[in-house]
Amino acid sequence: MYAASDKTASRAAVTVPRLRQMKAERQRIAALTAYDASFARALDACGVDVILVGDSLGMVIQGHGSTLPVTVDDIVYHSACVARGLKHALLIADMPFQSYATPERALDAAAAMLSIGGASMVKLEGAGALLDSISFLSERDIPVCAHLGLTPQSVLRLGGYKVQGREQAAAKKLLADARAVAEAGADLLVLECVPSALAAEITRELAIPTIGIGAGPDCDGQILVLHDLLGMNSGHRRPRFVKNFLEQGGSIDGAIRAYVEEVKSGAFPTSEHGYE
Ligand code: KIV
Repeated sequence: MYAASDKTASRAAVTVPRLRQMKAERQRIAALTAYDASFARALDACGVDVILVGDSLGMVIQGHGSTLPVTVDDIVYHSACVARGLKHALLIADMPFQSYATPERALDAAAAMLSIGGASMVKLEGAGALLDSISFLSERDIPVCAHLGLTPQSVLRLGGYKVQGREQAAAKKLLADARAVAEAGADLLVLECVPSALAAEITRELAIPTIGIGAGPDCDGQILVLHDLLGMNSGHRRPRFVKNFLEQGGSIDGAIRAYVEEVKSGAFPTSEHGYE
C-alpha cells in the first residue's frame, strides 16, 4: 500500500524534506521553469531538482505583457502536462494573481494544482495579508513556496519590474517578511531581484531554503525561466541575472546540464548577475 512510486527507481525523488536536507548539507538546488511534458522530461533527465510551472507562462507561452491574465485552469493544465514528464524533480505550481487573496480561495486553487495538476508544492507571492493563506495551506499539509522581492503580480503597484529592498527601510521590511513567511509555514522561499547581500543575510537566517533569481550567488538554490536559459527573445529587456546557457551547452540538453553544473558548483550566478 505504501510502496515507493517509480520516481524512486534510480535517482531519489526530490521531496520537501530533501530540500531542507540539501540546505543543511550545502548542496545547491537547481531549479528551472517548464510548461510542457517534453521540456519537463529533458530537465528531469539532466538533473534539475525543482521544476516550477510559473505564471511566467502568461508571458513566454501565451504572449501577454504581464503574468496577471494567467488563470488557475492555465496553471493546472500546464502542471499536469509537466507532471507527466517527471520522474525525480519536485514540481511546484504557481498560484495566479488573486487566486490566493483569501485562505479559502487559496485552498481551492492549491487543491486543484496538487490533485489534478500533480504538483507537490504551490508558490505564492507576498507576505502581510497573505500570511493567513500561507498558514491555512501549510496547516492543511499543502507545501508552500513563498516569493518575495520583485513580485511580478504586483507590477501595477510597483510601477515596473524593479529591484526591491535597496533602501534600508525596504531591506528591513523584506527581512521581516522573510521571517514571517517561514514562521507561517512556508517550506521554500524564492527571492527575486533583491540585493545580493540582503539575499545572503536572509539565506543565513532562515532554516528553509532560498532560491534566488537576480538575488546573487549566496542563495541555497537558483531558478531561471527556461526560455531565458535558452537565450530566446522574450520580447522584453533582458535582465542582468539571465545567462544564455545554449551558447556554451551547444544543445538543449547541453544547456540544461551546463546550468545544473554551474548552479551546483557555485559558478552561476556570479556577482555580475546580481544587484547591489
Ligand atoms: O513565474 C515564474 O516563472 C517565476 C519565477 C521567475 C521564479 O515566478
